[in-house]
Amino acid sequence: MKQKIKIAVLGGGGRTGKYLVNNLINRGFQIKLLLRKPEEFQIKSSLIEIIKGDSTDPEAICNLVQSCQAVISTVGQRPGEPLVASQAVMNVLEAMDKFGLKRFISMAGLNVDTPFDKKSAETSLATEWMKTNFSEIHADRQKAYSILSASEVDWTLVRVPFIEFLDAAGELAVNLEDCLSNKINAGNLAVFLADQLFDETYIRKSPFVASI
Ligand SMILES: NC(=O)c1ccc[n+]([C@@H]2O[C@H](COP(=O)([O-])OP(=O)(O)OC[C@H]3O[C@@H](n4cnc5c(N)ncnc54)[C@H](OP(=O)(O)O)[C@@H]3O)[C@@H](O)[C@H]2O)c1
Repeated sequence: MKQKIKIAVLGGGGRTGKYLVNNLINRGFQIKLLLRKPEEFQIKSSLIEIIKGDSTDPEAICNLVQSCQAVISTVGQRPGEPLVASQAVMNVLEAMDKFGLKRFISMAGLNVDTPFDKKSAETSLATEWMKTNFSEIHADRQKAYSILSASEVDWTLVRVPFIEFLDAAGELAVNLEDCLSNKINAGNLAVFLADQLFDETYIRKSPFVASI
């Protein structure tokens, strides 16, 4: 029954995205991927359907989300491009409303603040560094969180530290108040993201997830 649902994926051509796509395929999910450059995408599977388009384009997101039952986004800001995070969230929520979807799992850095945080000195320092050096990107991520919080869908915003692009190994520390280490393996992260599809623990929450 679980394998019957189709997942819409944003950012699936990115570094974390590829780990996620492989994980979803290995679990037998059908997936729809929104890609700006499909010709550069290497993973081949009969379970993959590709939609060409940009996450800031509401019509492209509608094409992506149609016929899916859940959405996962690993979209990340590219330098010098228009801000993507809050616009992508708005587009996804609009499409989810149109097609009656409930589950949306998205990603952010540990710099996003929520009212439930009790960030350690180290996490606070990393947050301040982002605010100082990438103020617009930080503000856009914060806006994306506000939009999600105000929405009525079953969202989870997974907050992570520095990602190492390695296969799953070791254990994960998941915490709602602080990030418990300064890195995470992309393989472990992909497992956590995909697990959220059928886990209600973090619905409407923003867990910090890190490797220990
Ligand atoms: N890397 C880290 O250490 C780190 C740390 C904390 C949080 N994060 C967050 O974790 C997530 C994944 O990170 P990552 O490093 O794996 O990302 P990444 O490799 O930079 O990939 C980003 C993906 O987003 C896509 N994208 C960006 N703008 C887009 C747009 N307008 N329309 C469609 N696709 C767009 C890119 O597609 P194109 O190839 O077409 O550009 C790419 O597939 C991101 O949200 C990132 O902010 C990363």
